[in-house]
Amino acid sequence: MKLPRPRKIIAEKYVAGLSLFKSRRSPIKLSANESALGPSPKAVKSYSSIGKGFVRYPDSDGTFFRKVLAKKFRLKRDRIILGSGSDQIFELVCKLFLNKGDEVIVPEYSFIIYRIYSRMFGARVRYAKEENFKPSVKSILDQVTRKTKIVFLANPNNPTGTYLDKFQILKLRKKLRSDILLVIDDAYYEYINDPNYASGIRLFSKSKNVLVTRTFSKIYGLAGLRIGWGYGSKEIIKKLYEIKPPFNVSRPALFAATQAVQDTKWLNKAIKHNNFWAEKIYETLDEIGITTNKTNVNFFLLNFDFVNKSASQVFNKLANSGILVRQMEVYNIKNSLRVTIGNSKENKKFISVLRKIFNV
Ligand SMILES: Cc1ncc(COP(=O)(O)O)c(C=O)c1O
Repeated sequence: MKLPRPRKIIAEKYVAGLSLFKSRRSPIKLSANESALGPSPKAVKSYSSIGKGFVRYPDSDGTFFRKVLAKKFRLKRDRIILGSGSDQIFELVCKLFLNKGDEVIVPEYSFIIYRIYSRMFGARVRYAKEENFKPSVKSILDQVTRKTKIVFLANPNNPTGTYLDKFQILKLRKKLRSDILLVIDDAYYEYINDPNYASGIRLFSKSKNVLVTRTFSKIYGLAGLRIGWGYGSKEIIKKLYEIKPPFNVSRPALFAATQAVQDTKWLNKAIKHNNFWAEKIYETLDEIGITTNKTNVNFFLLNFDFVNKSASQVFNKLANSGILVRQMEVYNIKNSLRVTIGNSKENKKFISVLRKIFNV
């Protein structure tokens, strides 16, 4: 039987890291930067309240939820688009803007999804050099050509945990050609506590050529429900709606996120927990001699160059104790692992296993 020939896809595939653990009953999963405390109990209650309401399609435009978001963050409802995770917003942006031969700029060690979708829709990806895992305005501008259409920037970035301050970000937008779309990914903005930092939404809520994305997968603990959103100019959002799949965000996701975003108490609890453990884990890493980023985000990038075990040895030893962290080969970051801050029990176990591995 002869099947139709599929389109040739040149992008790499996103590989999640859990396969090694499929047989284990309850692994400690510190590999995907998910929430340490889980979702707000109010979100869980709302999710459960749907009951047989699963029979109904969701509101395709998520009108009520967009209203809630607009009110919460003082934004315009018609400039918000919802996605099945912020991931889908990146896909839609690439689908809308990119043609074969166009170029996209991403920092050298930026979140992998940007390059996957950019290449999937025919663009060439140019990489801005980083110093100490941080891009600069200059290194990004150095990659601009007349073919540049989009610059993607996660601020803070995964897997490096680094970010550009608000002055640098504003400078970047000012210096970039105005017909280049700047996409700022706010996925981890809630964790940052630095007066010189400002989220994409804060900086660009009135901008016409910046699209900001946010997610409910990280601090809000709804990764499994798949819900995120984008904020951009009326014109861009309208165009994105034209290509958005209908019913792309499920009813349970809309219900849960509506409660999650309003539960400030739970959000603050998650931030407090993260700050506490970020400090504790950092102290341990420092004591062992593992180089890392001092961070407020909910993960660390660990480098093993100055200790007597390699990243892969440590990965395997952690795995043997039931702890899954993220390997960094796909990012081409040598001898490194990324570890997510978990709940208190998970963090204690991680610290004690790590100490045992290094005899400290
Ligand atoms: C920087 C960054 N942006 C976006 C995402 C994806 O979020 P979502 O689950 O909303 O697709 C992640 C997930 O790891 C991330 O690290």
